[in-house]
Amino acid sequence: MNEAQGRFDARVTAISYSGPVGGSTNNAADVELIDRPDDGGPVLPEPKPHSTIDRMVITIDGPAGGGKSTVARRLSQRLNIAYLDTGAMYRAVAYLALERGLDLTNLDAVIDVARDMDLSLDCGPVNTVVNVEGRDVSETIRSLDVSRATTVIAGIQPIRDMLVAQQRAKAVSLRSFVSEGRDQGSVVFPDADVKFILEASPYTRAQRRLDDLPPAATPVTLDEMLTHVRERDAIDAKQWEPLLQPGAAICFDTTDLSIEAVVDRLEDQVRRRVGNG
Ligand code: DC
Repeated sequence: MNEAQGRFDARVTAISYSGPVGGSTNNAADVELIDRPDDGGPVLPEPKPHSTIDRMVITIDGPAGGGKSTVARRLSQRLNIAYLDTGAMYRAVAYLALERGLDLTNLDAVIDVARDMDLSLDCGPVNTVVNVEGRDVSETIRSLDVSRATTVIAGIQPIRDMLVAQQRAKAVSLRSFVSEGRDQGSVVFPDADVKFILEASPYTRAQRRLDDLPPAATPVTLDEMLTHVRERDAIDAKQWEPLLQPGAAICFDTTDLSIEAVVDRLEDQVRRRVGNG
């Protein structure tokens, strides 16, 4: 296991963040951007070129089903850097709370689970392996039941505070990584080198979530998934919406793009900053 694949102990919460790198470096030049209709187009700051990919933080945020997970994993593979799947951390807390039969409205009990759980995250880039209490739950945490519970868990601020501290602590050991979630470019790594937002239509996102369900998961209809996606949008959007401000991030609508086409565009943006583009 190399440094970028180091295990992550969820009980380590007191490590301060020294910031792996500084400076937002989004680049307006030659960027194929999907402009938002009413913001007057992108106004992006001048890039600060990187001579090396040794220390680089790339964030990918946006709504559920925008393609973030698949794109983040493939981008990190192409760049041969780690992939920090922050949604998996929220899912792990939800999974353990459900497994213990906890009432999710019992905040004290749920916060205790988050504080005391033995969570380890192998950050790939090829695979993300999530272990909870020594068991591999990488697939189990993707079920719709866990997804629904995770929406509740992700709304509990003390749990967010713990997981954000752990994500920043993890950043120090990973050095270069692609981090994916809802709040990565806005809250967790505001000084990230490259910030992306991936969007797509609700229908496309619901279909993608269905396709991503593990084979053993309880079957779900497209309508159920669409309802779930919309419910999550209402809750999650406030975390990544600050990144829609002109110049804050590079935004792609992935509705009509293949995964490979999206990864190509993101990789191109990143390589421009390391001088390999
Ligand atoms: O990306 P995902 O579907 O695995 O995320 C699972 C849930 O966790 C979803 O409800 C959004 C939430 N989440 C969050 O609030 N902040 C993050 N950084 C990552 C995920």
